[in-house]
Amino acid sequence: MRVLTTIDEMQAACREVRRAGRRLGLVPTMGALHAGHLSLVRAARATCDVAAVSIFVNPLQFGPKEDFSRYPRDLEKDLALLNQERVDLGFAPSEEEMYDSGRSSYVTVEGLSERLCGRSRPGHFRGVTTVVAKLFHIVEPDVAFFGQKDAAQAAIIRKMVRDLNFDIQIVVAPIVREQDGLAMSSRNVYLTPEQRKQAVVLYRALMRVQTLADRGERRAAELIRAGEEVIREQPSAKLEYFEVVNSETLEPVADITSGALVAVAAQFGTTRLIDNVLLTGSGQAQGPEMKG
Ligand code: PAJ
Repeated sequence: MRVLTTIDEMQAACREVRRAGRRLGLVPTMGALHAGHLSLVRAARATCDVAAVSIFVNPLQFGPKEDFSRYPRDLEKDLALLNQERVDLGFAPSEEEMYDSGRSSYVTVEGLSERLCGRSRPGHFRGVTTVVAKLFHIVEPDVAFFGQKDAAQAAIIRKMVRDLNFDIQIVVAPIVREQDGLAMSSRNVYLTPEQRKQAVVLYRALMRVQTLADRGERRAAELIRAGEEVIREQPSAKLEYFEVVNSETLEPVADITSGALVAVAAQFGTTRLIDNVLLTGSGQAQGPEMKG
């Protein structure tokens, strides 16, 4: 794997790939890589000629009171993992390289960016779309890979790509989970052993909703009520939202007949976790993808 740290070098390397007529896939990450990230890397390797992975903890998407400074960072370990996965290009720029101190341009997807996590994390999605737009311009991939784990992020990036005519195919891969159902996340390392056990309540709540939907319940209010009831069984979980929304617009729906995204966010101590399940039109959910 070639590891590049400057925008000029990365742009030149990607230009070469495109000039050779090879299909280029990009997986944007913030590092602290786990099996969820690696599922995206494998999808890129399987469907593209050249796989590029970026590792950049993006300060722009963290609020002033959030965990930017303590976010887990282990570049050496990440690069070793990517080497094992036979990734072709690694891009690990510094903060100064990505953000000129004189910068004043941002990319914002209005409306969607204020929904779900955007409500409690003002500016978060603006930070995400700005850095992803920059990465898209630097790499100009044919395909970019994102995880369903961050369902709102995926919807917002899809909208940005449509609105701004990026000639990039967006692939969204299923959520990879631990054996007990907890969605893999770089932030799971913050959890104490006790909180780690409690956190599985998010998955249990979503599975309860899925079961009710499978049995024919169509009313979103009823699904939310049942999901919240499961969360309440774990009093240490501080629920932020439990919503049933349209998976593209992220607007609440009253009825799930034509499909819906069920999304949850809760805090365990100081650690904020999110999870979701996609109900298809028939009410069936996507099967969970467990760690092998
Ligand atoms: P990060 O949290 O590192 O996640 C990178 C990608 O991995 C995202 O597309 C995310 O949805 C996906 N991912 C994380 N956990 C997953 C899981 N359990 N199963 C499947 N996919 C999973 O998301 C970001 O970084 C940043 O916001 C970024 C897009 C890189 C912009 O800074």
